[in-house]
Amino acid sequence: MKMTVLKEYTEGLVTFLSADVDHYTAEKGQPTTSMPVFYNPRMHLNRDISVIFTAAYQERRQMDLICEPLAGSGVRTLRYLKECPGDFEAVIFDANPTAIEIARENAKLNNLTDRVRIVRGDAKVLLLNESRERRFDFVDVDPFGTPAPFLNPAIQSMHPHQGLLALTATDMPALCGVYPHVAQRKYGGRSMRSPFTHETAVRLLMGLAFVTAGMNDCSIEPLAVLSTDHYVRVWLDLKASRSIANAQSKMMGFVRYCPSCFNIDVVPLPEMERAPPFEHIGDCSGRVKMAGPLWIGPLFDREFLATAKKVETQGGQYQKRTRAMLNLMIQEQDLTERPYIDLHALCDTYGLTPPRRQDIMDVLSEKGFSVSRTHFRPTAIRTDAPVETILRTVNEHIGAG
Ligand SMILES: C[S@@+](CC[C@H](N)C(=O)[O-])C[C@H]1O[C@@H](n2cnc3c(N)ncnc32)[C@H](O)[C@@H]1O
Ligand SMILES: [Zn+2]
Repeated sequence: MKMTVLKEYTEGLVTFLSADVDHYTAEKGQPTTSMPVFYNPRMHLNRDISVIFTAAYQERRQMDLICEPLAGSGVRTLRYLKECPGDFEAVIFDANPTAIEIARENAKLNNLTDRVRIVRGDAKVLLLNESRERRFDFVDVDPFGTPAPFLNPAIQSMHPHQGLLALTATDMPALCGVYPHVAQRKYGGRSMRSPFTHETAVRLLMGLAFVTAGMNDCSIEPLAVLSTDHYVRVWLDLKASRSIANAQSKMMGFVRYCPSCFNIDVVPLPEMERAPPFEHIGDCSGRVKMAGPLWIGPLFDREFLATAKKVETQGGQYQKRTRAMLNLMIQEQDLTERPYIDLHALCDTYGLTPPRRQDIMDVLSEKGFSVSRTHFRPTAIRTDAPVETILRTVNEHIGAG
């Protein structure tokens, strides 16, 4: 640790030490995996929302023991301990000895040594070993790149009836269609380049969680998803239920998309063999792309987000952006049957000048469709209107303008 250039940071109610990001990085503020201890200040929003969601989950189910198997400086877990109600305990792991040393220092600095146990080693082994006597009520997998290798031990380390599982993935080239074959290998489904690629990324991650949970006789209930700043994250309620998991088999499927006419449809896996042919817009005969198998079920839980909103309004030190993100999630929560539509990308496809998003939303709403913004993209909307109707609405609006 003597050799490490440290800096004091503050996030939420926690002040802690970590490697000085500016000292160790060429590009200011962009941390690299070669830093002596990994801390990414750009994940502040991720941790803010995670604190709110952890507190919200506590209203659903009491937590006694939580685990962060890839903890770095420990900031995330120290925030949970300090900012969420209750006197639950935590176990954190990291393979890096410097991270462990600094995490111990940070636990001391925040007077939390009696509530957190810090263990050095490989997370995959420790998840199973350290949960033998007491299983975890919440496991937060926040790795470099993909959480895939940690998923099975994480699920097996959790409370046998129910628990909260959160997963971050930062391997966006695989998840967003640059390397569909890598997504297939790591997530069991092919990714796709499209104007809604972050939605298929989230759904591939959720799909892997569904399949891995199912292998362990568990079902998943998605609570919320987050897509921003080059990572995706999902929160889900894991429950021991073979019957629910069996019934959820229709929640896996494929998203089809034609880049020439912009039409999109979603086909459940059990209906694949009798799926109707893809419908193009107009006389388009473009080549249809496909992503999946991936999770095609809901992304948000209404009651959970309402509790999260209540937690957020009770105070807490969160970035302004955190509140905005949560509000957008609440707006879009009931409109996730089909991916969001990026109006700029739609207009690009048809050589149109993009109108104001709010104008199109107002007209669609007047026509009787449900419509909302989405936290995924500022230029996108969610709606139950067919893509062809959105396109017609845009054209009418431009014509009238
Ligand atoms: C993205 S960082 C964690 C950041 C942290 N969760 C946060 O919110 O600040 C990933 C961490 O995983 C650790 N790590 C990587 N592979 C590991 C493994 N197999 N077992 C345990 N720790 C590992 C790295 O040393 C690094 O500290
Ligand atoms: Zn087409």
